[in-house]
Amino acid sequence: MSNAPAPETIRTRLSRVDGQAGELVIGGYRLEDLAPQATFEEVVFLLWNDRLPNSAELVQLRGSLAEERALSPRARQGIEVAVERGVGPMDALRLAVETQVLDGPSEASETRESWWQQALRMVARMPLLVAAYARLRRGQEPADPPADLGHAAAYLYALQGSPADPEAIRALETYFNSVIDHGLNASTLAARVVASTHSDMIAAVAAALAALKGPLHGGAPGPALDMMREVERRQVASGRSLEAETEDYVRQTVAAGGRLMGFGHRIYKVRDPRADVLSRAAEQLAVDPQRADFLRRARAIEQVTLRVLEELKPGRNLRTNVEFYTAMLLECVGLPSDLFTPTFAVARVAGWTAHILEQRFEGRLIRPQEEYVGPSPRAWVPLEGR
Ligand code: CMC
Repeated sequence: MSNAPAPETIRTRLSRVDGQAGELVIGGYRLEDLAPQATFEEVVFLLWNDRLPNSAELVQLRGSLAEERALSPRARQGIEVAVERGVGPMDALRLAVETQVLDGPSEASETRESWWQQALRMVARMPLLVAAYARLRRGQEPADPPADLGHAAAYLYALQGSPADPEAIRALETYFNSVIDHGLNASTLAARVVASTHSDMIAAVAAALAALKGPLHGGAPGPALDMMREVERRQVASGRSLEAETEDYVRQTVAAGGRLMGFGHRIYKVRDPRADVLSRAAEQLAVDPQRADFLRRARAIEQVTLRVLEELKPGRNLRTNVEFYTAMLLECVGLPSDLFTPTFAVARVAGWTAHILEQRFEGRLIRPQEEYVGPSPRAWVPLEGR
C-alpha cells in the first residue's frame, strides 16, 4: 500500500476548469457564451446565488453596488501615504483593503447575510481603490462615478474622470467576466484557507491579494507587455524583422533560465480558453489602424514564441495563457501596464468572495496532509559538542 498522503479535495460549484479539453465553465455556463454577452453584475449575481438574475434582481444588485461604491477617508489616507512612499499598486491596494478593518468590526456577526454584506462592499469598493491610487499618483483628485453606471463603466470613469466609450466598457466587461473565477487558483485557495478557519472576509481578501501579486499568477500581464515592447525596441534598433527579434528574445530568455510571461499553465495543457475570448474582445475594440497594427504584432510575437517554446521545451505543452491577451486587451482599453494586476483583482474579488462564502458556510477547515521528507529522528548534540 502506498504511503503517499491522500490529496484533500475542495468541492465547489462555482467554476470547472478542464485543462485537457481547454474548457472553463462558470456557474454552469461556458465561458465563450457568458463572458462576451453578460454584464459583470449578472455574473456576480450568478456566483453569489447559483443562478442568473431576473431584471428586478439585476437592478437591485446594480443599485446596491452603486450605494457601496465609496472611497472611505481612511482608505484614501492609506493610498496617499502609499503614493508618497512610492509603494507599488498591488501593495497599495492590499493596504487600502486592510483599512476597511477600521470602518467597522469585521467579525460583528457570523451570519451568512453579514458576510455577504462584506462581500458586496469588497466588490463595490475595489475599483475605486485602484482608481484612487492611479489618480492620486498623477496628482489628480479621485473621481466619483455617477450612480447609474454599471461596474465596468464606473471603474473606467473613476480612472479617467469622464465617461468611457461603450466599446471600451464592453471590452473591459468581457475581460472582467473572463477572469472572475477560475477553480482553485492560488489566490482563491489562499482566500479559502483563511475563510476555512472562520477568520473574516477582509482577512481572506487580503490574503488573496497577496497571492495574486506574484508574477507566476496575476503579476504576469505587465511583464508580457514589457516583452512585446522590448522586442519592438530591438526591431527598431536592428532593422530586422519582428519575427527574428522575437525568436532571439525567446531563446535568450529560456537560455538564461527565464520564463516567457503569458505562456504556460499548471492546469491547461492546451490553449487557455480565456486567451481566445480576450483576443476576440481586443479585436472588436481595435478598429483604428494603430490598435489593429498593435494586435497584429502581438499575434506575430505569440506565434513565434509558441513555435520556439515547443522546440526548446518539447512535451511541456506551453501554450498561450490568459495573461498574454489580458495585456493586449487592457493596453487597447488604455490602462497603464502596472494597473493590469490590480484590474485583475477588481474582477477576481467577486470570485474570491463567492469562494469565501462557499467555504465559510459549506466547507470545513482546510488542512492538507504534509509529506514529510526531512531527516529521521536525530540525537540532540549540545552546543559545545557541535
Ligand atoms: N516560459 C519558459 N519555460 C516555461 C514556462 C514559460 N512561460 N512555463 C513553464 N516553463 C518550463 C519550465 O522551465 C519547466 O522546464 P523544465 O522541465 O525544463 O524544467 C517546464 O516548463 C515545467 O514548468 P513548471 O514550472 O513545472 O510548470 P508549472 O505548472 O509550475 O508552471 C506557470 C505554471 C504558469 C507558473 C508557468 O508556466 C509560468 O511561469 N508561466 C509564466 C508566468 C505566467 O504567464 N503566469 C500566468 C499564469 S495564468 C494566470 C493564472 O491562472 O494564474
